[in-house]
Amino acid sequence: MQVFMDSANVKAIEDAVEHGLIDGVTTNPSLIAKEGANFREVVEQICRTVSGPVSVEVVGKTYEEMITEGREIAKIADNVVVKVPMLKEGLRAVRELSRDGIRVNVTLVFSAAQALLAAKAGATYVSPFVGRLDDYAHVGMDVIRDIVKIYKNYALPAQVLAASVRHPVHFVEAALAGAHVVTVPPSVLHQLVKHPLTDVGLERFLADWQKVPQGIFGPPR
Ligand code: E4P
Repeated sequence: MQVFMDSANVKAIEDAVEHGLIDGVTTNPSLIAKEGANFREVVEQICRTVSGPVSVEVVGKTYEEMITEGREIAKIADNVVVKVPMLKEGLRAVRELSRDGIRVNVTLVFSAAQALLAAKAGATYVSPFVGRLDDYAHVGMDVIRDIVKIYKNYALPAQVLAASVRHPVHFVEAALAGAHVVTVPPSVLHQLVKHPLTDVGLERFLADWQKVPQGIFGPPR
């Protein structure tokens, strides 16, 4: 499973890349707005920081607007993936953009039916929002499982990108369900790395190590 960071914060992305934790990035208009910076500058910086795919969303709602914005966004860098919302007009735009060789991520997907249509339209990635479904008492992860099965049934090449991930259990369940990609906010990424027993175990090892007469380097203690 590939791991993307769901953020437009260049510092957080840089840190995750330096530690080899992520394979790509997803952004959305809210995440870009949170950074309070110029859209193009932020996107260019992110695309330079990570070599993997960087999803960047169109904001137009008509087919024409989505096509025009999508083509412009795709020019920003080779690793850009154009994010298009799951609308009827959006699917038309997905078909057109993918025919031009532009990779598209269909976003705001909340059902297996939507995901099937997005894959048929030519999406490279399809993003079901797990956490937002959970918020409405639907089990978001069930939708991921259904989509993975449907894509397998018909050998559809679209990749299931589990989005709106709120905690480490979502991450593990997405992997068990066979999602191709999971995108996680920086806070969840940090939670994934940590385990209290790792910290306690290390402290104990290092305390015991003090009893060894000669360490790895240097003279005897
Ligand atoms: C996906 O690409 C979206 O940016 C994201 O996962 C939305 O998550 P949220 O529901 O936490 O805003």
